[in-house]
Amino acid sequence: MLTGKKITVGIAGGIAAYKAAELVSGLVKNGADVRVVMTASAREFIQPLTFSALSGNTVYTDMFDSSHRYGVTHIELAQNADLLVVAPATANIIAKAANGIADDLLSTIILAANIPVMICPAMNTVMYNNPVVQQNIEKLCQLGCRIVGPNSGILACGAKGPGRMSEPREILQAIKRFFAPDLAGVNILVSAGPTREPLDPVRYLTNRSSGKMGYNLARAAAERGGNVVLVSGPVNLPPPAGVELIKVETAEQMRRAMLDNFSAADIVLKAAAVADYRPKHAAGEKIKKNDDAVALQLVKNPDILAELGQLKKHQILVGFAAETGNIQEYARKKLEQKNLDMIVANNVSEEGAGFDVDTNIVTIIYRNGDMKKLPRMSKYAVAQSILDEVTAYRSERFGK
Ligand code: C5P
Repeated sequence: MLTGKKITVGIAGGIAAYKAAELVSGLVKNGADVRVVMTASAREFIQPLTFSALSGNTVYTDMFDSSHRYGVTHIELAQNADLLVVAPATANIIAKAANGIADDLLSTIILAANIPVMICPAMNTVMYNNPVVQQNIEKLCQLGCRIVGPNSGILACGAKGPGRMSEPREILQAIKRFFAPDLAGVNILVSAGPTREPLDPVRYLTNRSSGKMGYNLARAAAERGGNVVLVSGPVNLPPPAGVELIKVETAEQMRRAMLDNFSAADIVLKAAAVADYRPKHAAGEKIKKNDDAVALQLVKNPDILAELGQLKKHQILVGFAAETGNIQEYARKKLEQKNLDMIVANNVSEEGAGFDVDTNIVTIIYRNGDMKKLPRMSKYAVAQSILDEVTAYRSERFGK
């Protein structure tokens, strides 16, 4: 599957370096021509000999190694390959990559790369959660790097939480997807974020949705080759690269945008948290503070997903159910009522799931009653898993 592909693998100094051996072995078994670059710290964890034996190639460690032609090695490894994968990517190499620092061979290769770059973060949870690290990852993401992982779990230092490098098979899968995008030519419509229902010119009703789940779905779908339209309520997130963004505020505007794009869509992922009710009248002027109590009259908003369920022809329709209890029962009901193909249910009161956090714990429920419960993962990893399920369902149903 990777025959003839030239892949440069950069290994930075984290305990997950031992997993890079399995990754390199997997890449070679799949036919790739792998060149390994190790930082000095990586060599404290694992010997270059392991990687030269697995890759069958010289391992590059030193910028000024006189056995290589000086000045050429880093350019060749950075430009004469199809992909550069950094696994594990420590907080340090991520910071250097995000800020253009080139003080050793690997960081110089990343800076000199004009080929796609995939970064697989691995570090202690506190480091990973440090806003500086998050900003650096975000910056790399905006610059077009693909970020794979990290996973959540028990770390070598004993901490529990996000920071574990993705498993070698997950990274291998991401690399295979990169070379053979499974959603190429597929039109994907995603909704994300909350809606805002005005009370008067300065006030509105909304909810806690951050848009992170929907934005990760849009990003993952675009990375897998899909033509993605993202209809988004007001959020504080940068638009994912390669996605057509339609910004809306109210449920009515979201409904319009979804209907306008529905007939062309093959897959619809409705992750938005649409307000169920809106104020009956939005006051033209700011409501004054007069009486002790004010009664608000609310009217029902259109249920966009239910409407799409009625209109559905060839589309695969995926809904989301955020509940605080009895999730599976409610989710199943919604799946039926709204004529969905699958529903992604989560308990928003569970720690590490739901609104405004970076991880999610979801159960995917199918029409035939089958269920798949996923462990706590980053919303990006959840997005990839949802797309795995949707593509499998699609090929089963339509042979595509
Ligand atoms: O009924 P509930 O809001 O819990 O259902 C959640 C699912 O329905 C989500 O996929 C959400 O985007 C969608 N929905 C909608 N329009 C509404 C309410 C929810 O499309 N008015």
